[in-house]
Amino acid sequence: MELKEKVREKYGAAARRVREGSGLPADCCSTTSCCDGFGAASCDPITSNLYDETEAGGIPEQALKASLGCGNPTALASLNPGEVVLDLGSGGGIDVLLSARRVGPQGKAYGLDMTDDMLALARENQRKAGIENVEFLKGEIENIPLPDNSVDVVISNCVINLSGDKDRVLREAFRVLKPGGRFAVADVVVAGDVPDEIRRSMELWVGCVAGALRDSEYIAKLARAGFDSIDIESTRIYRTEDARTFLTGTGVDVDAVAPRVDGKFMSAFIRAVKPASPGEGRDTACRG
Ligand SMILES: C[S@@+](CC[C@H](N)C(=O)[O-])C[C@H]1O[C@@H](n2cnc3c(N)ncnc32)[C@H](O)[C@@H]1O
Repeated sequence: MELKEKVREKYGAAARRVREGSGLPADCCSTTSCCDGFGAASCDPITSNLYDETEAGGIPEQALKASLGCGNPTALASLNPGEVVLDLGSGGGIDVLLSARRVGPQGKAYGLDMTDDMLALARENQRKAGIENVEFLKGEIENIPLPDNSVDVVISNCVINLSGDKDRVLREAFRVLKPGGRFAVADVVVAGDVPDEIRRSMELWVGCVAGALRDSEYIAKLARAGFDSIDIESTRIYRTEDARTFLTGTGVDVDAVAPRVDGKFMSAFIRAVKPASPGEGRDTACRG
């Protein structure tokens, strides 16, 4: 509960800063203008430069500024007209709005978030974008407020690592997906062992780092939840200099720890499928 409260506090404050127009100094570098505004040194290497300008066209600037993801799940997922998409931890709503455009008026995109200020920001962004096939729901990703077998694609952008009960999140994602439904998620993933100082830091947990799963653990948890065709593809690998940026100000000894995590954290795109019929599949599990 303490962890959840800290997460809610941090992301609520981030949403309020965006709504008040003051930006996200430490985390907000997802657009060039944001980077320019705060100087390259303040760019979070995890959240910066995720969306290209073509995709961003027609999406309110405030939604881009609020982006705190670590990937671009809608660019990597196949989304078809008429499908139902659910974004776990939708934040300011950017991936929900992009998904809604892709699935078109016959489809629907749900965003789920537990933080009131984020939901208010996301609904404001939806109004500004004038997109109607969208609904933002209040709730927790460990207890998704949607019926079984009701969603075609579950997306998420840098949120599952924040949960203290990832098995439950994956079971819930599996439950709401229709048979044959796809899991298409961006998340921070760890390759190898991570120093205890990092694992123990609450600050780094709410910053999407300390709670990250090892790639092998992610695969095992997805398989246990019932998923099939599991694949983890790395999209960005963080080097010592990146680690310096995200470790600074967290109480961790940056000079000692940053070189020890060189290349160990990555952003990844995680794909999996709910088998079309019970008992089918359990074939592939590979790392990209
Ligand atoms: C790192 S931000 C990512 C937001 C968004 N996906 C993006 O790409 O900008 C994490 C978001 O997930 C929400 N969140 C974190 N843990 C959650 C949980 N257990 N249930 C629901 N929402 C959660 C936070 O409120 C926050 O809006």
